[in-house]
This record gives sequence, structure tokens and C-alpha cells, in this order.
Amino acid sequence: MFLRKLTYLSSKLISKRSPNFQNIRRQYRLTMASNRRPEHTAPPEIFYNDDEARKYTSNTRMIEIQMTMSERAIELLALPEDTPSFILDIGCGSGLSGEALTEQGHHWVGMDISSSMLDIAIEREVDGDVCLADMGQGMFFKPGTFDGAISISALQWLCNADKKSHHPPKRLYKFFCTLYGALRRGSKAVFQFYPENPSQLELITSQAMRAGFTGGLVVDFPNSTRAKKMFLCLFAGVSNPTLPKALGTGNQRGVATQASFTDSRMRYRNMKGKSVKKSREWIKEKKERRRRQGKGEVRPDSKYTGRKRSGKAF
Ligand SMILES: C[S@@+](CC[C@H](N)C(=O)[O-])C[C@H]1O[C@@H](n2cnc3c(N)ncnc32)[C@H](O)[C@@H]1O
Repeated sequence: MFLRKLTYLSSKLISKRSPNFQNIRRQYRLTMASNRRPEHTAPPEIFYNDDEARKYTSNTRMIEIQMTMSERAIELLALPEDTPSFILDIGCGSGLSGEALTEQGHHWVGMDISSSMLDIAIEREVDGDVCLADMGQGMFFKPGTFDGAISISALQWLCNADKKSHHPPKRLYKFFCTLYGALRRGSKAVFQFYPENPSQLELITSQAMRAGFTGGLVVDFPNSTRAKKMFLCLFAGVSNPTLPKALGTGNQRGVATQASFTDSRMRYRNMKGKSVKKSREWIKEKKERRRRQGKGEVRPDSKYTGRKRSGKAF
């Protein structure tokens, strides 16, 4: 962790071509060899440098895995048949997941934090438009722009704090709030991701729910170490969604392949099960959501927001 922070800070101060920079890269590679999760080795914009981006995009096994997961994510989006949709690809990288969208006749916009990955996407002349952006800072698309969103192998990066100013719960919340706003009501966002442990899963799902999403997890091939894949299926503006069925579950009993949440379960109840509807927090959250969605005039918050009336007659 210390090495990662140090090298990240130093990399900001030195040029890419200097011998120091090459040393830092070598150190990262050594760390990588002893630790298999890329998120543990460097911030994404550094980990996915020119070398890594090229290696990633020319590895046939990687291409096959990413394409299969992207096709499954698109299937889980359950878009209307025979009509092209407009999809956001979050953490689009060099455009492998976008290619799966193109193959199915959809139009897409991709965002990624790594300029090296995006350079390769441009070099490969992908059909989507791509932009350099950190999802943790939120997105600035017009409300209801997209018919859906996919994200392949990117979301777990948001659980890391790569800078002093990074606060993973806040970044996740900002990300989900702005994504919610950018999606058409009734549409979905499907994330294939690799949570490191149950608390990361909890952190991600709780922030998605706070932002107004409903939905849950679909776990394909839950009994296979290699084939097991997690998909977080989020619904925008659907209060009791039906989660799609997981693949490869056979007829076995007792293996969890789905975990769903609805907006009523947590957003309107506090830890003790008490209703928080009409509480100050609930009102502020509702106003914030209406502002994000651009719904008419929303009164500014004040010290009187959500305050109990005394009940006195004047
Ligand atoms: C494993 S690659 C997947 C790329 C592409 N989705 C695919 O299927 O080939 C993960 C991508 O997530 C991007 N990423 C990680 N953190 C990000 C962030 N905070 N904002 C935007 N992109 C991010 C990385 O730069 C990287 O390109």
C-alpha cells in the first residue's frame, strides 16, 4: 500500500520517459507478481499504462473472456429486440466491451480513466465515442440520456482510495447518483465486477440503493471457481424489479444465485427497522433526487427542512 502510494505520488512528479519512471513501473510489475489483484498495485490510470493497455488488448484469452462477459451483461439488460439502443459503457477500456455492443447493433459512449486504454480504443477505430473521465467524480450527461449502461470488470476499482481526497463510499454514491440521473426511467445498468470481499459487496450495493436504484446480484455458475461471475443488475425507476435468472445453477438447492433489494427495504427504514420516511434525511434525499432529475423547482434546503412543527395554532 505504502509502495503504491509513494510510487503514485512520485509518478506525478516525473516524466514518463525518465529512468525513475521505468523503475517505478518495474516495481509495480514486481508487486503485481506477488499480488494478483490489479487494484492493489496502482491506481487504474497508472496500472493501465501504454504497455499494459497493449498487452491487455492483444491477449486472445482476455479478449474472449471480456467479450463473453459483455455479451452476458447485454443479455441481462434485456433491451428491446430489433431496435438499436443508446448505451453507456463505464470503464470501457480499449473498447472490447463496446465491440460487443456494436455487434448487437447498439450505439454507445464509453468512459475510462486510462488515456492509454482510450488511445488503443481510438487506434482500433471502435464505433463508440469515448471520453476520459473518472467515474468516481460522477458524470455529466443530460438526464435520461441512456437506454442502459454496462460496465465490465471496472466497478471494484471504486472501492480503493488512491488519493488522500478519495473516500470510497462518497465516490460510489456520487457515481451511482449521477448514473441514475443519466439513465432513462425504467432502464437498467449491469455491472460485471470482482468484489474482493463481502464488505465491498455491501458497500457497493448500499450506495447504489441510496442513490435510488433497485435490483440485485445475479451470480452465474456459482459452483465453479473459474466460471463464476457476478453481475449487479440495477434498475432506474422500477420499484419491484424481477431479477433475471442466473446461468449454470443446475437443479442444486441451497446455492445463492440471486440477492435482490427493493427501494422500500433500506431507503425508508433505519437500522432498527423504524420508518425514516418524512425524516430530515429522507426529505433532503428526495429533494436532491428531484434536483438531479431536473424535476421542476425544488426549494433550497434550510434549517427548517424536515423540522417537526410545534403543532401550535397561530
Ligand atoms: C479490466 S478493464 C475492462 C475494460 C473493458 N470494459 C473491457 O471489457 O475490456 C477495467 C477498466 O476500468 C477502468 N477504470 C478503473 N477505474 C476507473 C474509474 N475510476 N473511472 C473510469 N474508468 C475506470 C480502467 O482504466 C480499465 O480500462
